[in-house]
Amino acid sequence: MKAIIPAAGLGSRFYPVAKSVPKEMLPVGGKPAIQLIVEEALAAGAGEVIIVTSPQKPSIMQYFTPDPAWRARVEGKAEAVRALDELDRVSKSVRFVFQHEQLGLGHAVLQAAPACAGEKEPVLVLLGDALVKSDAPCARGLVEVSRAFGNASVVGLERVPPERVSRYGIAGGTPVRENLLRLDRLVEKPPPDAAPSDLAVAGRYVLDPRVFACLSACAAGHGGEIQLTDAIQRMLEGGAPVYGCRYPGTRFDIGNPDGYREVVLAYR
Ligand code: UTP
Repeated sequence: MKAIIPAAGLGSRFYPVAKSVPKEMLPVGGKPAIQLIVEEALAAGAGEVIIVTSPQKPSIMQYFTPDPAWRARVEGKAEAVRALDELDRVSKSVRFVFQHEQLGLGHAVLQAAPACAGEKEPVLVLLGDALVKSDAPCARGLVEVSRAFGNASVVGLERVPPERVSRYGIAGGTPVRENLLRLDRLVEKPPPDAAPSDLAVAGRYVLDPRVFACLSACAAGHGGEIQLTDAIQRMLEGGAPVYGCRYPGTRFDIGNPDGYREVVLAYR
């Protein structure tokens, strides 16, 4: 299974820090947040993790590129060598693609299409600025649901207060069992009175590879960006099954200073 981590966004809510340190590289519990996300993807069974990055964020690629010179610098410092070894093991499964223009999350995922050509299995998508703290790794749980339903697409959902539904992609559908819906629609950033529920799409997806064709067909949606939500809605309209799963655990958005402060406290 392949995993895609979109991490090419502008990170404008984290300016001016993001000019030098991408939000995905901010430290959480001793590692950059994106390393925790790569580890979550590997724990879910991904054999390859494709990070979508931009030329303005060179530190992400540099971080995951093993370099013997860095080891030589810390020779004899056991803790530093151990940390580098651990990172190098993770890095073996990581590759990169570039998004040269920041045209939205859907567009970022589309940049990984050539790297996923010929895939029959669903691909895992994990947002590079969303961390989920949970006893069982979130992505693994969604992959298990996908397998149980014939490799169907599954989006991770979380409940949000009604006044915040207009900030998210919101799911509508029929309950299958506790915490699981068969979706019939997804609406990007609806006004509260037009939202089909209070269940928001929250940073983790298992997607049928047909999503790439749907992304290619999507014109720019809300805010002039190509939205992943619109492509999933297109899959639904084409009759592909899509499930929504409320996962256990807490999601943190590290894309803004307040969210980052919360995650640092939670991962102490
Ligand atoms: P966000 O929607 O939080 O956007 O991206 P952003 O553009 O980075 O941040 P702000 O709004 O300017 O502060 C969710 C994830 O998708 C990636 C981001 O890097 C982040 O990990 N993304 C977003 C891309 O890779 N490309 C894009 O064009 C947009």
